Amino acid sequence: MMRIVVVGSVNMDLVTLAPRFVAPGETILGERFLTVPGGKGANQAVAARRLGAEVALVGALGDDPFGRQLRDGLVAEQIDLSQLSQLAGCASGTASITVAHGENQIIVVPGANAQLDPGHVEQAQTLIGRADAVLLQMEIPLETVEATLRLGQRLGVPVILNPAPAQELPGEWLRLARYITPNQHELAILLGADASDDYLQLMQRSPCPVVLTRGAEGAWYREQGEPIHQPGFAVEAVDSTGAGDTFNAALAVFLHEGLAEAVRKACAAAAFSVTRFGAQAGMPSQAQLRQWLAQRQQR
Ligand code: RIB
Repeated sequence: MMRIVVVGSVNMDLVTLAPRFVAPGETILGERFLTVPGGKGANQAVAARRLGAEVALVGALGDDPFGRQLRDGLVAEQIDLSQLSQLAGCASGTASITVAHGENQIIVVPGANAQLDPGHVEQAQTLIGRADAVLLQMEIPLETVEATLRLGQRLGVPVILNPAPAQELPGEWLRLARYITPNQHELAILLGADASDDYLQLMQRSPCPVVLTRGAEGAWYREQGEPIHQPGFAVEAVDSTGAGDTFNAALAVFLHEGLAEAVRKACAAAAFSVTRFGAQAGMPSQAQLRQWLAQRQQR
């Protein structure tokens, strides 16, 4: 069984389903409101666990009702929470999300996630040293992102960095990642490039290998210097929240099957995930993914 450690955020998602996005100063009537577990770190942990990996989450929660609810959800998913801190006097992270026509707009207030410091990562050293891969995102302090990349390098454990939300990072940090998994927009920000630059050229400029996500259009990666396109799987999208997280988790879980197969399964798992409302609700189990892929091959 693959052993994965996720270093990242845990949020409560406050999700409104609306007929469209609002303009500044405008009020419209929404269709539905849900409070569901989210956060890029927790989402990737849940997706990897459902796909059959043994998963531990290094993160921070507040000591508020959201924090308790979020912890209970992660316990139910059978994720190792020995390195998930519950911080006194702190609010849990929240994400205010509007979903319209299958797309989303998100505002994250980090709360306890902003207190996840390099010391927490050091404390998880034994766990990380035993892992097959580390999954890392950027909803936690940048110094903690750097500490995780350096620890992964020191321990010889591959780190997959999902650079979201994107910020420009030093090339020296990027070189420490086994893969980065941005979309086109995130890759441009990460490298300090222009958003209109050709993404295949940007991939070449990256100091570490890139698996570029293209939403419904699938993903790009390079093998032996050649760009390879994995087409997306056509589905009726209900909510794309958490699709990127599902992609990253599947990539890590199936990496031992080779990059091409891992990217194919990551695209499939991400497509599956957008067919349900809420970040974690649509994440497939290993059996569901296998069956779904088999059905599609028969057509
Ligand atoms: O990637 C999706 C996640 O981003 C949401 O669950 C939300 O919490 C934000 O962190």
